[in-house]
Amino acid sequence: NHRAFIFDLDGVIVDTAKFHFLAWRKLANDLGFDFTQEQNEQLKGVSRVESLNKILTWGNMKLTEEEFNRQMALKNENYLSYVDKMEEDEILPGVPKVLNFLKEKNIPIALGSASKNARTILKKINLYNTFDAIVDGTDVSKAKPDPEVFLIAAERLHAKPENCVVFEDSLAGVEAANIGKMISIGIGEKQVLHEADFVFPDFTKIEIDFIEKLLRKEEE
Ligand code: G6P
Ligand code: MG
Repeated sequence: NHRAFIFDLDGVIVDTAKFHFLAWRKLANDLGFDFTQEQNEQLKGVSRVESLNKILTWGNMKLTEEEFNRQMALKNENYLSYVDKMEEDEILPGVPKVLNFLKEKNIPIALGSASKNARTILKKINLYNTFDAIVDGTDVSKAKPDPEVFLIAAERLHAKPENCVVFEDSLAGVEAANIGKMISIGIGEKQVLHEADFVFPDFTKIEIDFIEKLLRKEEE
């Protein structure tokens, strides 16, 4: 069996985490409350429905089902207004280097995202045809930290979970990779992502040498 790599999208390949934050915060503010950057950490990697559930708890609010759905639609509309302006140059520094290396070596790669907008974003940044498999919020029924999204990705790459390496910026995503018995690489702060097998502040700090070591390890 062979190594395969799975990339989260938001906060790993592109910094859409900041757009999600702006859009969720506007929703909260419109409902009459606010939440902190720290609370926002808990929204990363989490599905749209789960995110709104959490936010409403913070604001001590309950919405009717109809209003809940309306607020989710408004949030997404607002979020997409930012996404719409995205271009290839929004790909985070260091990411192309790693993607190109894996492509050159013919290592299978997948996208594993909770977002229902993943395909739209990949098209905007010209990465739609880069991945051997795309698993997104439209394919899964269980939100991270459930490993479903990554397990489906592994299956589509014909790789054993133990041979998969996952790049994640969220705690929920790192947990999902760990529960799925995959190698987890956190992108962000060590304090937040302490459960990851490795943590890097961003992709510019990931040397090709490190990726090569991961590939060799599997041959041993
Ligand atoms: C990612 C992001 C979350 C977002 C979720 C759903 O995991 O990290 O912040 O809520 O996807 O995204 P969507 O684009 O479907 O609302
Ligand atoms: Mg993410």
